[in-house]
Amino acid sequence: AALLVLLVFALVLTGCKKEEAKDGYVFATDATWPPLEFVEDGTLAGFEVELIPLIGEKVGVAMSVKNVPWDTIFAGLANGAYDGVASGVTVTEERKATMAFSSPILSAGQVVIIRNEDAGNIKGIEDLEGKKIGVQIGTTGDFALEAYPVERRAYDEIGLAIEDMLNGNIDAAVCDSLIASDFVLSNENYSSRLVVAGEPFTQEDIAIAVQKDNQELLDLINEGLAKAEADGSFNALKEKWNLL
Ligand code: ARG
Repeated sequence: AALLVLLVFALVLTGCKKEEAKDGYVFATDATWPPLEFVEDGTLAGFEVELIPLIGEKVGVAMSVKNVPWDTIFAGLANGAYDGVASGVTVTEERKATMAFSSPILSAGQVVIIRNEDAGNIKGIEDLEGKKIGVQIGTTGDFALEAYPVERRAYDEIGLAIEDMLNGNIDAAVCDSLIASDFVLSNENYSSRLVVAGEPFTQEDIAIAVQKDNQELLDLINEGLAKAEADGSFNALKEKWNLL
């Protein structure tokens, strides 16, 4: 009888665990990347911060976002600290070895941000030979610079690289085009002092990442995305955040 009680108890416990998982999926985001994810008045805001719950709503499962620093974001995904990463993540072959990606949600490319007064001399990445360029560490901007004869400086956040450039310590910053234009245009402090030089020099797809074997969640995300595309809510969200 004692064994039976134990067995029932164990069954109830595993049942509860399953219920817990159904309660919702959590996605990590590094909220330093406007307009995709940032902190405003102490709360998370941005395109992906709203996209995740929208996807959840379309498939009837709670999905939420939490703030996690970029430099630990993929390690946390691998060890199960959360279920996915929605953080402007570029789909790359290297990353595909350790994680799975949803269908693309945006396209982007790396661009160079410089000080206004340098616009006459610097028209793009090819004019930065031997110059100091800031990137967010471990991003595709960081990796892209390996192909260029420049002095790469890695920062925890792209905003710190931009501050360092304005202080005259580095010559340029490189990040995703969508973020660069938002940084330059939407910030009063910056719009008169910074410009984007030239066209994007890479072509990238942005998608939501999950653990490599989590087909169930991947299917849910893709289904939710397809529904949100079909009913116009996906495009409305893009429009809201100036991403169309
Ligand atoms: N798209 C780039 C990458 O995947 C940068 C993403 C950075 N995202 C962020 N939220 N800080 O490497």
